[in-house]
Amino acid sequence: MQAARQADPPVVVRGIRKSFGDVQALDGVSLTIEAGSVLGLLGPNGAGKTTLVRILTTLLDPDGGSAAVAGFDVQRQKTQVRPRIGLAGQSAAVDGTLTGRENLEMVARLYHMPRRDAAARADALLRRFDLLEAAERQAGVYSGGMRRRLDLAASLVADPQVLFLDEPTTGLDPHGRLEMWAVIRELASAGATVLLTTQYLEEADQLADTIVVIDHGKVIAQGTAAELKSRTGGEFLTVRVSDLAMLDGARRVLAAAGDGEPVVDAAAGAVSVAVSNGAARLAGVVRDLDAAAVAIADVGLRQPTLDEVFLSLTGHRAASDDAAPPGRPRRGRRRA
Ligand SMILES: Nc1ncnc2c1ncn2[C@@H]1O[C@H](COP(=O)(O)OP(=O)(O)OP(=O)(O)O)[C@@H](O)[C@H]1O
Ligand SMILES: [Mg+2]
Repeated sequence: MQAARQADPPVVVRGIRKSFGDVQALDGVSLTIEAGSVLGLLGPNGAGKTTLVRILTTLLDPDGGSAAVAGFDVQRQKTQVRPRIGLAGQSAAVDGTLTGRENLEMVARLYHMPRRDAAARADALLRRFDLLEAAERQAGVYSGGMRRRLDLAASLVADPQVLFLDEPTTGLDPHGRLEMWAVIRELASAGATVLLTTQYLEEADQLADTIVVIDHGKVIAQGTAAELKSRTGGEFLTVRVSDLAMLDGARRVLAAAGDGEPVVDAAAGAVSVAVSNGAARLAGVVRDLDAAAVAIADVGLRQPTLDEVFLSLTGHRAASDDAAPPGRPRRGRRRA
């Protein structure tokens, strides 16, 4: 058995390719996750996120490329990789006929823990994920958020070196999502190495140290949220008017001052426009607004949101909370 080289990052992916029939799900994906960091793999429906997670967790073999997890090759050393990883999948894998406690004890027993250790481990995890009160109830009656937390707890039973979370908050209501974020943040601050997939820009922004954006099985951008935002090459200048009647006047001033078409948000009484060198232009814009008799409630410069970044990288918007109805057919790219 080849020993893991401690100096290697816990996840190293090189040029992974995978197709299903004529759908190229992954087209040469490479990435690295440093120990103790959270990598957010961000991409829309059908981008290839789950396919990559399945390959890295040894459930699926790639057609080409290589990957090492916890120092072991995911194709040639599956039995060494498996005890070192945890996976909380896109569809929570808890057994609804067992109680929360029984689910965790069963997983612990699958890892050959002695009964007493299994019970102690289950108890500690139930406490940590705020499930003690529901521990004796069947998981089938849990709320979606509770089931996801139980699934995450199950993935941590064997204290894995690397944790894979495939869309951990998809399908949760806002409250469940915030609870899940708190749990993941806690794991991250305790030094876990995590690959988290998500369709939600805000989730990647909130939880990930590094973001890798994939679309059609290819990495199209990577960096910290701040780096991705600065890649769009500028800032946004936003003016909020004190009287809605002045919105159009503000729009005209910003159209002249900015790069491209201003965006009007009538509900907020605000107009925004992309500007390069925004700080230098700010004073001039305020003078022009004054000259046009536009009364300002607020004016400021801001970084673009990740949504605006995604739009500029891919030419289409990322999913938002209400954009992707469940059961929507997945898109796949046909090979030429
Ligand atoms: N077992 C399979 N057989 C055939 N096609 C598949 C299979 N698994 C995935 N695909 C296709 O591969 C592409 C990538 O799918 P994948 O599930 O990895 O995307 P995803 O990014 O996880 O999407 P989602 O956000 O919807 O979960 C899609 O076009 C999908 O239809
Ligand atoms: Mg998926």
